[in-house]
Amino acid sequence: MTAGGLRGSSGYPRPEVGTGRRGGDIDAIVLVGGQGTRLRPLTLTAPKPMLPTAGVPFLTHLLSRVRAAGVRHVVLSTSYRPEVFSGHFGTGEALGLELEYVTEDVPLGTAGGIRNVADRLRSDEVLVFNGDVLSGVDLHKLVATHRDGAADVTLHLTRVQDPSAFGSVPTDENGRVTAFLEKSPEPVTDQVNAGCYVFRREVVDRIPAGRPVSVERETFPDLLAAGASVLGYVDSTYWLDLGTPATFVRGSSDLVLGIAPTAALPGPPGQALVLPGAKVAGTAEVTGGSTVGPGAEVGERARLDGTVLFDGARVAAGAIVSRSVVGRVAVVGEGSVVEDTVLGDGVVLGARNELRCGARIWPGVQLGDVAVRFSTDA
Ligand code: GDD
Ligand code: MG
Repeated sequence: MTAGGLRGSSGYPRPEVGTGRRGGDIDAIVLVGGQGTRLRPLTLTAPKPMLPTAGVPFLTHLLSRVRAAGVRHVVLSTSYRPEVFSGHFGTGEALGLELEYVTEDVPLGTAGGIRNVADRLRSDEVLVFNGDVLSGVDLHKLVATHRDGAADVTLHLTRVQDPSAFGSVPTDENGRVTAFLEKSPEPVTDQVNAGCYVFRREVVDRIPAGRPVSVERETFPDLLAAGASVLGYVDSTYWLDLGTPATFVRGSSDLVLGIAPTAALPGPPGQALVLPGAKVAGTAEVTGGSTVGPGAEVGERARLDGTVLFDGARVAAGAIVSRSVVGRVAVVGEGSVVEDTVLGDGVVLGARNELRCGARIWPGVQLGDVAVRFSTDA
């Protein structure tokens, strides 16, 4: 990134749209009001963007990249458990940011969440982020595309294997968005909404206030129908939505391994991130970008692969835990095998259990020895 961040024109043509009252500073909004239902039970107590991911709340990684691009003023659009955000990030000073919080009493949806913070915006354009996306997109190029094209809205687009889980967004040969089909069973392209936009300020102001509005189902289709200039910026850098247990553990591992971009990894990239106060026995193997949270323990001969242990979690001797999340102070008993599973906070799993295939154990549940198996050989 250039020293001037997004404020200057270094390397890019001069902006044709407004450049904000402080010589081109651009504000950012991060949408963090969702309930994170697909990540339950982890999100019963913490909002999705606040789950520990490679050692810090996920949002720290996103904010670190926003800051590295030169953005200073960020508004968090909150609804579900807002106090968890402000309690952790405060004024944002530690990240070099000026953070503000705006909370919806009732969830206003993605566009409603943007509209609801309009009175906090200071710039003539605003960057908007979904709060659960890990991405290497070059924000300078995204903003330059928006300015060069004098667009009303510019969307970051990426290609994925299963576009039906996202907003499918076709573009024409000039990069103009021609349709927006949210979670269509029959997507028209594998090019999808990557959850990062540049909005012209007037477009934000025109979103109806005081009622739920979806940017995907209402605002974008309405803008297209009205003939607004909506551009797509397609890139193929790292991109992942961490909204499901499978993508959450993959995103965390990719951060630890150094595959996913961040300026906030609390340690050098490698096979394992072992946080202060954690203990890993000499004969244990911790690989695949696993995180051993503060005060967590991994016993003798235990194996962790691509797994996240939250604070104080314990994996006993000989247990094998792969692509799973072990909640705060949860315990995996001796010789148990846990794959593609979420153990809520405080779960106690006895010895020689076997959990696989997307199992989710609710917080505080205790399972005795040999309580659940997928095979007969316990
Ligand atoms: N303030 C506020 N209010 N934020 C909200 C609300 C709300 O009512 N509802 C959801 N959000 C936030 C979530 O916290 C999240 O950060 C973001 O909006 C997107 O919500 P998700 O629930 O993660 O949506 P998704 O992953 O199913 O789909 C969205 O993201 C995809 C890319 O990751 C859509 O934008 C798709 O079009 C897109 O492809
Ligand atoms: Mg999402």
